[in-house]
Amino acid sequence: MKTRLALLLSLSLATAAHASEDAAALWTAKCKNCHGADGKAQTKTGKKESIVDMSQPAWQKAQTDADIREFIVDGSPRNKKMKPFKDKLSAEQIDSLVGYIRTLKAD
Ligand code: HEC
Repeated sequence: MKTRLALLLSLSLATAAHASEDAAALWTAKCKNCHGADGKAQTKTGKKESIVDMSQPAWQKAQTDADIREFIVDGSPRNKKMKPFKDKLSAEQIDSLVGYIRTLKAD
């Protein structure tokens, strides 16, 4: 019984670790160019377009997961540089990116 529980636990931990690795890889491949590795948008496009620093607690607090998701799905209504990703990423990938954005922290 104990071993089964331990096995289950390590399996789910492995899955979680895998999902976050995927999200980080996705972020690097699809988002980092504009938003920066740390989400602070200290990039050429980030500065030019005044992209928000997503690591700021105030920004994190002001968004629901649904808000963030909608932005990724439909893009920005204000700035077409932030394109809709609904045809490029799966729902699971978009969810994992929402989770990833939640891990961005100001230091
Ligand atoms: C070509 C540059 C570019 C890429 C690539 C890009 N973004 Fe953006 N993103 C922007 C810009 C510009 C804005 C600001 C839009 C605005 O001010 O309305 C933005 C805004 C956002 C916002 C909302 C921030 C706010 O203003 O509240 C989220 C969330 C976001 N991006 C997520 C992502 C994710 C996730 C990816 C990768 C899948 C991504 N972006 C890729 C340019 C980009």
